[in-house]
Amino acid sequence: MSNSRSFSNCTADAIREAAAALKAGYLVAFPTETVYGLGADARNPEAVKRIYEVKGRPSDHPLIVHISSISELEKWAKEIPEYAIDLARAFWPGPMTLILKRTEIAQDFITGGQETVGLRVPSDPIALALIQEFERISGSAIAAPSANRFGQVSPTSSSDVREELSNYLCDFDLILEGGRSNIGIESTIIDCTTGAPQILRPGSISHEDIASISNLTLRSVESLTRVSGNFESHYAPNARIILDIDPKEGQGLIAFDSFPTPPGVIRIFSPNTNVDFARGLYSALRNADKIGLKEIVVYQPEYSGIGIAIRDRLGKAAFGPRK
Ligand code: TXA
Ligand code: MG
Repeated sequence: MSNSRSFSNCTADAIREAAAALKAGYLVAFPTETVYGLGADARNPEAVKRIYEVKGRPSDHPLIVHISSISELEKWAKEIPEYAIDLARAFWPGPMTLILKRTEIAQDFITGGQETVGLRVPSDPIALALIQEFERISGSAIAAPSANRFGQVSPTSSSDVREELSNYLCDFDLILEGGRSNIGIESTIIDCTTGAPQILRPGSISHEDIASISNLTLRSVESLTRVSGNFESHYAPNARIILDIDPKEGQGLIAFDSFPTPPGVIRIFSPNTNVDFARGLYSALRNADKIGLKEIVVYQPEYSGIGIAIRDRLGKAAFGPRK
């Protein structure tokens, strides 16, 4: 167990100290509006290597580079199509990651050897302040996956990060405290490397949102093999997730609050909107593990808006725990 420190009120001093830790090659977990990220200097191969060690993630899985504004885009990406600029103008800062052709600054240890790089400007004020300060002192940016062990549920609070990663962090790594993640599921990932955008991972920025900006027909999803969340059993708690069946005694239940709880079933989450569902889903799954539930039945939201992203994650979680 490490003594990696937490900063609970992110003052300017705390942000400066965290940026300095990144520059020295340490890891900083930080809040974003989607989920918490585990950050490292995107130009430091040793620091990035530690992200993979701490997460237990295969090293050919690319990382998202977090930048502070659209003006940093051309440093990391080239041959950027007009529609990608339109998307960035419309949805950054926010829960959207663009996949673009990389420049030489985005090296193989970030992109998993691919010629593309994932870029995102988060809107969380602590994340933005940290990225800005780190860019200022280093001229680099922050590479960050979700701050969970590989295959597990993403963290939506600093205590989730601490519980999951403290055994793997060192004394000089930091965890920034920024309350509960407002959106609760990971960013929408959009491949912008061809003539039209393609959603690789659904999120709260929906198909309709993207279509309304880009004026182009989105390409349909063909192959998601490059996205690590596409592996069997991802975003999964230890409990087995079963979708859309009647729950039995002793099973957990996640369903909209309009569904009653049958006798003997343990209700773990009752959202009343899709937005609430996304916001609370991952912490509900973590709580279910804490109370030792073996099976959780989930009644899924309808296939529209952020409901599409929720169903995507639940479908992956339903393969069962990754052992
Ligand atoms: O909301 C989010 O996106 C959070 C916060 C921390 O920003 N980050 C996140 O990172 O979810 P991660 O590493 O857990 O998931 C990012 C996904 C991975 O599945 C990765 O394979 C994919 O993005 N990805 C990154 N770069 C890519 C690239 N160049 N081409 C295709 N997929 C890429
Ligand atoms: Mg992840």
